[in-house]
Amino acid sequence: MSPIDTTHLLAPTPRPDVVMTRGEGSWLYDETGNRYLDFVQGWAVNCLGHSSDVIRKSLVHQADQLLNPSPAYYNRPQLDLAALLCEKSGLDRVFFCNSGAEANEGAIKLARKWGKQNRGGATEIITFTGAFHGRTLATMAATDKPGWDTLFAPGVDGFCRVEFGNLAAVKAAIGSQTVGIMLEPVQGEAGVVEPPQGFLASLRRLCDEHGLLLIFDEIQTGMSRTGPLFAYQSSTIAPDIMTLGKGLGGGVPIAAVLASEKASCFEPGDQGGTFNGNPLMCAVGLAVLHTLCDADFAHAASQASDHLRSTLENTAQKYSASVRGQGHLLAMVLPKPVASEVAARCFEAGLLINTPRPDVLRFMPSLTTSPSEIDDMIAILSPILDEALQ
Ligand SMILES: Cc1ncc(COP(=O)(O)O)c(C=O)c1O
Repeated sequence: MSPIDTTHLLAPTPRPDVVMTRGEGSWLYDETGNRYLDFVQGWAVNCLGHSSDVIRKSLVHQADQLLNPSPAYYNRPQLDLAALLCEKSGLDRVFFCNSGAEANEGAIKLARKWGKQNRGGATEIITFTGAFHGRTLATMAATDKPGWDTLFAPGVDGFCRVEFGNLAAVKAAIGSQTVGIMLEPVQGEAGVVEPPQGFLASLRRLCDEHGLLLIFDEIQTGMSRTGPLFAYQSSTIAPDIMTLGKGLGGGVPIAAVLASEKASCFEPGDQGGTFNGNPLMCAVGLAVLHTLCDADFAHAASQASDHLRSTLENTAQKYSASVRGQGHLLAMVLPKPVASEVAARCFEAGLLINTPRPDVLRFMPSLTTSPSEIDDMIAILSPILDEALQ
């Protein structure tokens, strides 16, 4: 029996028998003093590492001033964060919320309302195989996970799924009821899957031709995770609506829907929430965003991600494995479906990595992870891969 009493948690997911108590940079510590080199970082959330000074200071400062005046009033961090997000993204308006799924739910509602006003009541959104958009009822319907269509039936209608990367299939799916196309610029939960070259630009063209909204879910890829501040910025096009979460708060719960002026059709009462845009979380988001936009920070992060990639590639070639992804969102595709076994052995050896697919190891460390920590990670991983793959 587990030495940890979990009886008061509702259906806990399978977790190892440890209780995490402290984090510092790339390291996580448990109750018994074991430490773990963390290449999961709260599922790509802690972009500045565990307990970063930037976040701690902004929390303490803002907590001294104002926690939550209610969404009925403006607050300064909310206004400042919205303005900076718009400046950096080129989009025009922001709606703040508390989780990625809630942001996507907001994006779906925004698109449906826009369809009502601009496309004769069209509501259908084209989504993709391998997509992950969250765990609310609507975002589950937009997600492609086996069994999710019936798990909490009846589900939410209004989504049409086509093969990721297949432009002909997208074209064929567009009809009078279509209002938009929604996708992750790099699919995270599918195992870090990039679209074919030019796919995002082709979708932009299709949306322009047919008068549809292009919606990017940048909850995992945004906030410099793939290199540029937003993943779409490595292409030449921009979405009409973008959602952010995870790295936006660097570990605290804040998410956002960003929209172009054209798509910003919410009216008072359409969308809201008690905690939405509260100054405590917005102050953290603002501090994180300022940090990511600092040229020295961005340069160091880019060098670290190059080092991570080349180190993983050197290791992968020994095992006929391959590496894919961008920036600090990378995956090693193994020649055998032993990823869970490898991750479990890594955990025992003090390394946290994640396995979105049976043959895929995913690496999403803090953007502050040093080259020597990357070398430490490989030193733990290599002998485990030796055993699992040779
Ligand atoms: C691309 C993407 N969208 C949405 C979500 C859901 O975000 P949250 O877990 O904050 O609701 C996730 C979470 O992993 C994600 O990766």
